[in-house]
Amino acid sequence: MTLKTKLTYSIIFVFGHVALAQNYEAKVDSLMKLMTLQEKIGQTVMYSGSWDQTGPIVGTDNAKYIREGNMGAMLNAFTVKGTYDLQKVAVEETRLGIPLLFGYDVIHGHRTIFPINLGMAASWDLKMIEESSRISAEEASAEGLHWTFSPMVDIARDPRWGRISEGSGEDVYLASQIAKAYVKGYQGDDLSKHNTILACAKHFVGYGAAQAGRDYHTVNMGEGELRNVYLPPFKAAVDAGVETFMSAFNELNGVPTSGNKFTLRDILQEEWGFKGFVVSDYTSINEMILHGFAKDSTDAARIGMNAGVDMDMMGSVYRKHLKELVEEGKVDEAIVNDACRRILLAKFKLGLFDDPYRYIDEKREAETKYKPEFLSKAREIAAASSVLLQNKNNVLPLSKETKSIAFIGPLVKDEYDILGNWAAKGDRKGKAVSVFEGVLEYLKPNQIMYAKGCDILKDDESGFSEAITISKKADVIVLVMGEGHHMSGEAASRTNLKIPGIQPKLIQKIREANPDKKIILVLMNGRPINLSDEVNLVDAILEVWFPGTMGGAATADILFGAYNPSGKLTVTFPRNVGQVPIYYNMKNTGRPIPDNNPTEDYKSNYIDSPNSPLFVFGHGLSYTTFKYADFTLSSHTLSFSDTLKASVVVSNTGGFDGYEVVQLYIHDKVGSVTRPVKELKGFQKIFLKKGESKTVTFILTAEDLKFYNSEMNYTVEHGEFEIAIAPSSDFKFKNSFILE
Ligand code: BGC
Repeated sequence: MTLKTKLTYSIIFVFGHVALAQNYEAKVDSLMKLMTLQEKIGQTVMYSGSWDQTGPIVGTDNAKYIREGNMGAMLNAFTVKGTYDLQKVAVEETRLGIPLLFGYDVIHGHRTIFPINLGMAASWDLKMIEESSRISAEEASAEGLHWTFSPMVDIARDPRWGRISEGSGEDVYLASQIAKAYVKGYQGDDLSKHNTILACAKHFVGYGAAQAGRDYHTVNMGEGELRNVYLPPFKAAVDAGVETFMSAFNELNGVPTSGNKFTLRDILQEEWGFKGFVVSDYTSINEMILHGFAKDSTDAARIGMNAGVDMDMMGSVYRKHLKELVEEGKVDEAIVNDACRRILLAKFKLGLFDDPYRYIDEKREAETKYKPEFLSKAREIAAASSVLLQNKNNVLPLSKETKSIAFIGPLVKDEYDILGNWAAKGDRKGKAVSVFEGVLEYLKPNQIMYAKGCDILKDDESGFSEAITISKKADVIVLVMGEGHHMSGEAASRTNLKIPGIQPKLIQKIREANPDKKIILVLMNGRPINLSDEVNLVDAILEVWFPGTMGGAATADILFGAYNPSGKLTVTFPRNVGQVPIYYNMKNTGRPIPDNNPTEDYKSNYIDSPNSPLFVFGHGLSYTTFKYADFTLSSHTLSFSDTLKASVVVSNTGGFDGYEVVQLYIHDKVGSVTRPVKELKGFQKIFLKKGESKTVTFILTAEDLKFYNSEMNYTVEHGEFEIAIAPSSDFKFKNSFILE
């Protein structure tokens, strides 16, 4: 920066600051007046640092591009030292000294790792989810980061798709509430604080509906489904003030989402009034060439920028071609200005123009990671995220006095896979608490036997005999098995949903050797697994997902009854891969299976499998039992301007205190377009001591019953609605009201 420009910039900036207080738009305008077209384009360019790798390696000369003013943001660059060195180049060696933005995939924790997002969703605890993202923001910002590429708010109904692990599951209402919780946690109430970071709603849009569950695959869906199912969590994120969006890899009805004007400009900007900026996914603008939508990289840059992708992640196409595209009149300079303005606005909001080094503080970095309170919160969240799928004869919880317990399986001592995919900078060695370590809080070493038995994927059975030997000596057997962390997440689609490798065979052998013994299966995995065989082979199944840094401690808390499980599934677990995609709020069809004659011919069924899943949406057991009684409605009619109260008395009728997730469902019986058989419209997580009862009340308005009709109007229609309050989605409606 020459002294002259530096001075001009400072004067404008300082004057702007004093005179205009928080009027960031005016500050951006003042700054943009000083910028050349190339400098504006520079702001739209993002490259990767080398602290992590989250896509194909593309060699870039980062310091050179920064120095030339050809880079506005970086991903995979963090730590105080790392970001300081790079920021210094941007601030001190470029003409205008515009600070860089540092972003990273802080998806379910930065250092302290929480359960994978699908797991956290199963807690149905919005406050906890917000706390997890608050802690993530604390740790990430202390290492120089300004921005996370989270939350992933893609609805996913196909467990073959590995990225189902990163979202909140299959339900529109729940995923929308969770999207808001994440955004609030990351961004806090004031982005200029040094411990708040920009959130990013991704992947816009439809990515979760990839054909056949294969990652990056084609998506075709009608606009009704797009608007009623896939868009609402993104809209919820906008309503919560999310500052950034990420476009996706997939095409949507023939148009790649990174070049899709309809979704990016018409819906996001025009309809929703989104004021933040959109970043592409990793080289997703370039990939429009392979999609067969852009001729070459120049064409891809033109399409991406015109469609409303403001920043090019790793593609180099904006850096290389935007200037010439503007000069040739193929991209209006006003569009580039708009993209640059949106990006600069975020930098102003973060306070980077007040102090570009504000996130750079060695002391804070050292003090912030793995704070004891973060770890205890991670333990609490991991326990709340676990789902007790089965507990025959109440074999769980176990007694601490049990003479000997055999722990068997490749994940018993694991502190690597337990963090799950996208575990940011969570240490995969020496930090996470394995299940084995966790149970040592409850048992003495002489009560424990251990055998690995086999690997997750290899087919070497040489460890079977030791596992079977110790299983025979034990009073109780605990199997800790599942997927490797790399088996879910990006580019990790599966066609087989069973527990991988020879683990199922080992379970079978252990049962054969111990026909009458209690066997408990603790499962770690990133997607719904087909447990059709295991439900018959073991007594209890505890789904702990990939539970994170404190996962082993939390699992032990549940096994020994210090925590009464309360998680409930937010995705359906199928009986077999042929049922997929399967989800609770499906349509009825014209030939549903009659309740009174399940085998009737010419109905919408399979000849080789029931329609019903193995475990339904909303399912999750507790060590106690809950009774639902006295359902009441304040009225049997609801007018457009009125409210309807639905309540039920929930009682804890078992022997443990515990949490219960109480769920409200409706069914719009007749619509101008068909409506799902059940729709979640509310939930409350309540705590009941044994013997205690509570009245749980939900308030509904006509607004809650709206949907997009065939003209794509967001509307509500008169008629009859069934309604129920239930412990899961497995119930039959008995009550209804009329919307007048
Ligand atoms: C993923 C995104 C991620 C980005 C940056 C991509 O491959 O699809 O979810 O944010 O990489 O790491």
